[in-house]
Amino acid sequence: MTGLVAAQYSLTALEPDRPEPVKLWFCPNDELTPTLATTLATHWLDEHEREIAAQFLFERDRRQYLVAHTLVRRVIALEGGVPEAEAVIWRSSRGRPFLHKPVEGLPRGGRELDFNLSHTAGHNFLGVVRRHRIGVDVERLDRDDQGFDAVVQTFADEEQAWVARAAPGRPRNRRVLRLWTLKEAYSKARGLGLGLPFDSFAFTLAEDRGVRGFRPPKTESAHPWRFIELEPVPDVLAAVAVAADSDVPSVLQLHHGFPWDRSAPRLLDLPEPVA
Ligand SMILES: CC(C)(COP(=O)(O)OP(=O)(O)OC[C@H]1O[C@@H](n2cnc3c(N)ncnc32)[C@H](O)[C@@H]1OP(=O)(O)O)[C@@H](O)C(=O)NCCC(=O)NCCS
Repeated sequence: MTGLVAAQYSLTALEPDRPEPVKLWFCPNDELTPTLATTLATHWLDEHEREIAAQFLFERDRRQYLVAHTLVRRVIALEGGVPEAEAVIWRSSRGRPFLHKPVEGLPRGGRELDFNLSHTAGHNFLGVVRRHRIGVDVERLDRDDQGFDAVVQTFADEEQAWVARAAPGRPRNRRVLRLWTLKEAYSKARGLGLGLPFDSFAFTLAEDRGVRGFRPPKTESAHPWRFIELEPVPDVLAAVAVAADSDVPSVLQLHHGFPWDRSAPRLLDLPEPVA
Protein backbone atom coordinates (compact mmCIF):
# COMPACT_ATOMS: atom_id res chain seq x y z
CA MET A 1 0.00 0.00 0.00
CA THR A 2 2.84 2.39 0.85
CA GLY A 3 4.22 2.14 -2.69
CA LEU A 4 0.86 3.08 -4.15
CA VAL A 5 0.53 5.98 -1.78
CA ALA A 6 4.02 7.25 -2.60
CA ALA A 7 3.17 7.17 -6.32
CA GLN A 8 0.26 9.55 -5.73
CA TYR A 9 2.40 12.26 -4.14
CA SER A 10 4.29 13.24 -7.23
CA LEU A 11 1.15 13.58 -9.34
CA THR A 12 -0.28 16.64 -7.68
CA ALA A 13 1.83 19.74 -7.21
CA LEU A 14 0.10 22.70 -5.54
CA GLU A 15 -0.40 25.77 -7.64
CA PRO A 16 1.34 28.40 -5.51
CA ASP A 17 -1.00 31.31 -6.24
CA ARG A 18 -4.28 29.47 -5.88
CA PRO A 19 -5.31 28.85 -2.29
CA GLU A 20 -6.52 25.33 -1.64
CA PRO A 21 -10.07 24.92 -0.39
CA VAL A 22 -10.91 24.13 3.18
CA LYS A 23 -11.06 20.32 3.23
CA LEU A 24 -13.19 18.21 5.53
CA TRP A 25 -13.40 14.47 6.05
CA PHE A 26 -16.33 12.83 7.75
CA CYS A 27 -15.56 9.20 8.53
CA PRO A 28 -17.79 6.86 10.55
CA ASN A 29 -15.94 4.13 12.47
CA ASP A 30 -17.68 1.49 10.35
CA GLU A 31 -15.57 2.55 7.37
CA LEU A 32 -12.75 0.42 8.80
CA THR A 33 -13.23 -3.06 10.23
CA PRO A 34 -11.72 -3.41 13.72
CA THR A 35 -9.03 -5.71 12.30
CA LEU A 36 -8.08 -3.27 9.57
CA ALA A 37 -8.03 -0.32 11.98
CA THR A 38 -5.71 -2.26 14.29
CA THR A 39 -3.44 -3.27 11.41
CA LEU A 40 -3.15 0.28 10.07
CA ALA A 41 -2.58 1.63 13.57
CA THR A 42 0.22 -0.86 14.17
CA HIS A 43 2.02 0.44 11.11
CA TRP A 44 1.16 4.14 11.25
CA LEU A 45 0.70 5.41 14.83
CA ASP A 46 3.61 6.82 16.81
CA GLU A 47 4.61 5.72 20.29
CA HIS A 48 2.50 8.38 22.03
CA GLU A 49 -0.61 7.39 20.08
CA ARG A 50 -0.01 3.67 20.66
CA GLU A 51 0.38 4.31 24.40
CA ILE A 52 -2.95 6.14 24.53
CA ALA A 53 -4.67 3.46 22.47
CA ALA A 54 -3.47 0.82 24.92
CA GLN A 55 -5.03 2.64 27.88
CA PHE A 56 -8.70 2.47 26.90
CA LEU A 57 -10.84 0.24 29.10
CA PHE A 58 -13.50 -0.36 26.47
CA GLU A 59 -12.85 -1.79 23.04
CA ARG A 60 -15.31 0.62 21.39
CA ASP A 61 -13.29 3.60 22.71
CA ARG A 62 -10.03 2.09 21.46
CA ARG A 63 -11.61 1.50 18.06
CA GLN A 64 -12.77 5.12 17.93
CA TYR A 65 -9.26 6.32 18.71
CA LEU A 66 -7.64 4.03 16.14
CA VAL A 67 -9.99 5.04 13.33
CA ALA A 68 -9.64 8.76 14.19
CA HIS A 69 -5.87 8.70 14.29
CA THR A 70 -5.34 6.53 11.23
CA LEU A 71 -7.67 8.98 9.45
CA VAL A 72 -5.47 11.91 10.54
CA ARG A 73 -2.30 10.23 9.31
CA ARG A 74 -3.87 9.12 6.04
CA VAL A 75 -5.11 12.65 5.28
CA ILE A 76 -1.73 14.16 6.17
CA ALA A 77 -0.17 11.70 3.70
CA LEU A 78 -2.60 12.66 0.94
CA GLU A 79 -2.45 16.40 1.60
CA GLY A 80 1.12 16.94 2.77
CA GLY A 81 2.87 14.06 1.05
CA VAL A 82 4.38 12.74 4.29
CA PRO A 83 4.00 8.96 4.54
CA GLU A 84 1.58 8.01 7.31
CA ALA A 85 4.14 6.52 9.67
CA GLU A 86 6.63 9.37 9.14
CA ALA A 87 4.42 12.34 10.03
CA VAL A 88 5.73 13.95 13.23
CA ILE A 89 2.87 15.30 15.32
CA TRP A 90 3.59 17.53 18.29
CA ARG A 91 1.18 18.97 20.84
CA SER A 92 0.93 22.41 22.42
CA SER A 93 0.83 22.85 26.20
CA ARG A 94 -2.97 22.72 25.85
CA GLY A 95 -2.83 19.50 23.88
CA ARG A 96 -3.52 20.88 20.39
CA PRO A 97 -1.83 18.65 17.81
CA PHE A 98 0.23 20.20 14.99
CA LEU A 99 2.10 18.65 12.09
CA HIS A 100 5.84 19.26 12.31
CA LYS A 101 6.85 20.85 9.03
CA PRO A 102 10.41 20.20 7.83
CA VAL A 103 12.41 23.39 7.03
CA GLU A 104 12.56 22.41 3.40
CA GLY A 105 8.74 22.26 3.35
CA LEU A 106 6.31 19.42 2.96
CA PRO A 107 6.60 17.16 -0.08
CA ARG A 108 3.24 18.58 -1.14
CA GLY A 109 2.11 22.13 -0.57
CA GLY A 110 4.96 24.04 1.03
CA ARG A 111 5.20 24.67 4.75
CA GLU A 112 1.65 25.31 5.77
CA LEU A 113 -0.91 22.73 6.78
CA ASP A 114 -3.14 22.93 9.81
CA PHE A 115 -5.50 20.19 10.87
CA ASN A 116 -8.02 19.60 13.61
CA LEU A 117 -9.83 16.45 14.67
CA SER A 118 -13.05 15.72 16.52
CA HIS A 119 -14.72 12.44 17.33
CA THR A 120 -17.93 11.39 18.95
CA ALA A 121 -19.48 7.95 19.47
CA GLY A 122 -18.94 6.29 16.09
CA HIS A 123 -18.06 9.34 13.97
CA ASN A 124 -14.84 11.19 13.16
CA PHE A 125 -14.50 14.62 11.63
CA LEU A 126 -11.25 16.14 10.39
CA GLY A 127 -10.52 19.55 8.87
CA VAL A 128 -7.43 20.65 6.95
CA VAL A 129 -6.53 24.11 5.72
CA ARG A 130 -3.42 25.85 4.38
CA ARG A 131 -1.99 29.06 5.86
CA HIS A 132 -4.72 29.40 8.48
CA ARG A 133 -5.96 27.82 11.66
CA ILE A 134 -8.93 25.49 11.61
CA GLY A 135 -11.08 24.12 14.41
CA VAL A 136 -13.76 21.45 14.10
CA ASP A 137 -16.27 19.72 16.32
CA VAL A 138 -18.80 16.93 15.83
CA GLU A 139 -21.53 15.85 18.25
CA ARG A 140 -24.49 13.47 18.16
CA LEU A 141 -27.94 14.84 18.72
CA ASP A 142 -29.20 11.34 19.59
CA ARG A 143 -26.57 10.60 22.22
CA ASP A 144 -27.66 8.63 25.29
CA ASP A 145 -25.74 10.78 27.72
CA GLN A 146 -27.80 13.94 27.25
CA GLY A 147 -26.44 16.58 29.64
CA PHE A 148 -27.86 19.39 27.51
CA ASP A 149 -29.04 21.43 30.52
CA ALA A 150 -25.57 21.53 32.05
CA VAL A 151 -24.06 22.56 28.72
CA VAL A 152 -26.44 25.50 28.36
CA GLN A 153 -25.30 26.94 31.69
CA THR A 154 -21.86 27.56 30.15
CA PHE A 155 -23.23 29.75 27.33
CA ALA A 156 -23.45 33.55 27.14
CA ASP A 157 -26.73 35.09 28.42
CA GLU A 158 -28.07 35.94 24.96
CA GLU A 159 -27.39 32.38 23.78
CA GLN A 160 -29.15 30.92 26.82
CA ALA A 161 -32.16 33.13 26.04
CA TRP A 162 -32.18 31.97 22.38
CA VAL A 163 -32.07 28.33 23.49
CA ALA A 164 -34.91 28.89 26.01
CA ARG A 165 -37.17 30.24 23.22
CA ALA A 166 -37.17 26.81 21.49
CA ALA A 167 -39.66 24.10 22.44
CA PRO A 168 -38.25 21.58 24.96
CA GLY A 169 -36.89 18.32 23.52
CA ARG A 170 -35.38 18.01 20.07
CA PRO A 171 -35.78 21.66 18.93
CA ARG A 172 -34.08 22.93 22.09
CA ASN A 173 -31.39 20.23 22.06
CA ARG A 174 -30.60 21.05 18.46
CA ARG A 175 -30.05 24.71 19.34
CA VAL A 176 -27.79 23.68 22.22
CA LEU A 177 -25.68 21.43 20.04
CA ARG A 178 -25.44 23.96 17.20
CA LEU A 179 -24.01 26.48 19.65
CA TRP A 180 -21.83 23.92 21.39
CA THR A 181 -20.19 22.62 18.20
CA LEU A 182 -19.54 26.16 16.97
CA LYS A 183 -18.03 27.18 20.30
CA GLU A 184 -15.79 24.14 20.39
CA ALA A 185 -14.73 24.64 16.77
CA TYR A 186 -13.76 28.26 17.47
CA SER A 187 -11.89 27.53 20.69
CA LYS A 188 -10.12 24.56 19.07
CA ALA A 189 -9.06 26.73 16.12
CA ARG A 190 -7.50 29.02 18.69
CA GLY A 191 -5.88 26.04 20.44
CA LEU A 192 -7.60 26.80 23.73
CA GLY A 193 -10.23 24.08 23.87
CA LEU A 194 -12.33 24.25 27.01
CA GLY A 195 -9.73 26.63 28.48
CA LEU A 196 -11.69 29.46 26.83
CA PRO A 197 -14.81 30.28 28.90
CA PHE A 198 -17.80 29.57 26.67
CA ASP A 199 -19.72 32.57 28.02
CA SER A 200 -16.93 34.96 26.95
CA PHE A 201 -18.04 34.88 23.28
CA ALA A 202 -21.38 34.44 21.55
CA PHE A 203 -23.01 33.45 18.29
CA THR A 204 -26.20 34.68 16.68
CA LEU A 205 -27.61 31.87 14.58
CA ALA A 206 -30.07 31.67 11.71
CA GLU A 207 -33.20 29.63 12.35
CA ASP A 208 -32.13 26.49 10.47
CA ARG A 209 -28.43 26.73 9.77
CA GLY A 210 -25.77 29.41 9.50
CA VAL A 211 -24.05 32.02 11.65
CA ARG A 212 -25.40 35.58 11.42
CA GLY A 213 -23.20 37.21 14.01
CA PHE A 214 -20.24 36.57 16.28
CA ARG A 215 -19.15 38.43 19.39
CA PRO A 216 -15.52 37.44 20.05
CA PRO A 217 -13.97 37.23 23.51
CA LYS A 218 -12.75 40.62 24.78
CA THR A 219 -9.20 39.25 24.65
CA GLU A 220 -9.35 38.79 20.88
CA SER A 221 -8.89 41.74 18.55
CA ALA A 222 -11.74 42.08 16.05
CA HIS A 223 -10.98 39.57 13.34
CA PRO A 224 -13.37 38.03 10.83
CA TRP A 225 -14.03 34.30 10.96
CA ARG A 226 -15.94 31.94 8.76
CA PHE A 227 -18.14 29.42 10.50
CA ILE A 228 -19.69 26.42 8.82
CA GLU A 229 -22.48 24.23 10.17
CA LEU A 230 -23.01 20.78 8.67
CA GLU A 231 -25.14 17.72 9.30
CA PRO A 232 -23.13 15.07 7.42
CA VAL A 233 -25.65 12.38 8.38
CA PRO A 234 -28.97 12.89 10.17
CA ASP A 235 -28.61 13.75 13.86
CA VAL A 236 -24.86 14.29 13.69
CA LEU A 237 -24.01 17.98 13.90
CA ALA A 238 -20.62 19.34 12.92
CA ALA A 239 -19.10 22.81 12.92
CA VAL A 240 -15.97 24.36 11.44
CA ALA A 241 -14.19 27.65 12.27
CA VAL A 242 -11.58 29.17 9.96
CA ALA A 243 -9.96 32.57 10.35
CA ALA A 244 -11.22 34.59 7.37
CA ASP A 245 -8.07 36.22 6.04
CA SER A 246 -8.32 37.63 2.56
CA ASP A 247 -6.80 34.62 0.82
CA VAL A 248 -9.13 32.04 2.33
CA PRO A 249 -10.79 30.30 -0.61
CA SER A 250 -14.54 30.59 -0.78
CA VAL A 251 -15.15 26.91 -1.30
CA LEU A 252 -14.90 23.83 0.85
CA GLN A 253 -14.64 20.16 0.01
CA LEU A 254 -16.51 17.60 2.06
CA HIS A 255 -15.19 14.03 1.78
CA HIS A 256 -17.14 11.12 3.14
CA GLY A 257 -15.54 7.85 4.26
CA PHE A 258 -11.97 6.71 4.80
CA PRO A 259 -9.72 8.36 2.20
CA TRP A 260 -8.13 5.43 0.43
CA ASP A 261 -7.73 7.66 -2.60
CA ARG A 262 -8.69 11.11 -3.81
CA SER A 263 -12.38 10.40 -4.22
CA ALA A 264 -14.61 13.19 -5.56
CA PRO A 265 -15.74 15.37 -2.66
CA ARG A 266 -18.91 17.43 -2.38
CA LEU A 267 -18.13 21.07 -3.07
CA LEU A 268 -19.88 23.61 -0.88
CA ASP A 269 -19.70 27.40 -0.78
CA LEU A 270 -18.11 28.85 2.32
CA PRO A 271 -20.37 31.31 4.09
CA GLU A 272 -19.41 34.99 4.26
CA PRO A 273 -17.11 35.97 7.13
CA VAL A 274 -18.68 37.32 10.31
CA ALA A 275 -17.05 39.59 12.83
C1 LIG B 1 -9.87 20.17 23.01
C2 LIG B 1 -11.03 19.74 23.87
C3 LIG B 1 -12.06 20.86 23.84
C4 LIG B 1 -11.59 18.45 23.24
O1 LIG B 1 -12.89 18.25 23.59
P1 LIG B 1 -13.82 16.99 23.16
O2 LIG B 1 -15.15 17.51 22.76
O3 LIG B 1 -13.75 16.01 24.25
O4 LIG B 1 -13.13 16.28 21.97
P2 LIG B 1 -13.16 16.40 20.38
O5 LIG B 1 -13.45 15.03 19.91
O6 LIG B 1 -13.98 17.49 19.82
O7 LIG B 1 -11.65 16.78 20.07
C5 LIG B 1 -10.62 15.98 20.52
C6 LIG B 1 -9.41 16.24 19.64
O8 LIG B 1 -9.10 17.64 19.61
C7 LIG B 1 -7.69 17.79 19.48
N1 LIG B 1 -7.28 18.67 20.58
C8 LIG B 1 -6.83 18.37 21.82
N2 LIG B 1 -6.57 19.50 22.50
C9 LIG B 1 -6.84 20.52 21.69
C10 LIG B 1 -6.75 21.96 21.82
N3 LIG B 1 -6.33 22.52 22.95
N4 LIG B 1 -7.12 22.72 20.79
C11 LIG B 1 -7.55 22.16 19.63
N5 LIG B 1 -7.65 20.81 19.44
C12 LIG B 1 -7.30 20.01 20.46
C13 LIG B 1 -7.08 16.40 19.56
O9 LIG B 1 -6.82 15.95 18.24
C14 LIG B 1 -8.17 15.58 20.18
O10 LIG B 1 -8.20 14.23 19.75
P3 LIG B 1 -7.39 13.10 20.56
O11 LIG B 1 -7.65 13.34 22.01
O12 LIG B 1 -7.96 11.82 20.06
O13 LIG B 1 -5.97 13.32 20.20
C15 LIG B 1 -10.63 19.47 25.32
O14 LIG B 1 -9.87 18.29 25.37
C16 LIG B 1 -9.80 20.60 25.91
O15 LIG B 1 -10.32 21.62 26.32
N6 LIG B 1 -8.49 20.49 25.98
C17 LIG B 1 -7.62 21.54 26.48
C18 LIG B 1 -7.16 21.17 27.85
C19 LIG B 1 -6.21 22.21 28.41
O16 LIG B 1 -6.40 23.38 28.27
N7 LIG B 1 -5.17 21.73 29.04
C20 LIG B 1 -4.18 22.59 29.57
C21 LIG B 1 -3.16 21.82 30.27
S1 LIG B 1 -3.50 21.75 31.97
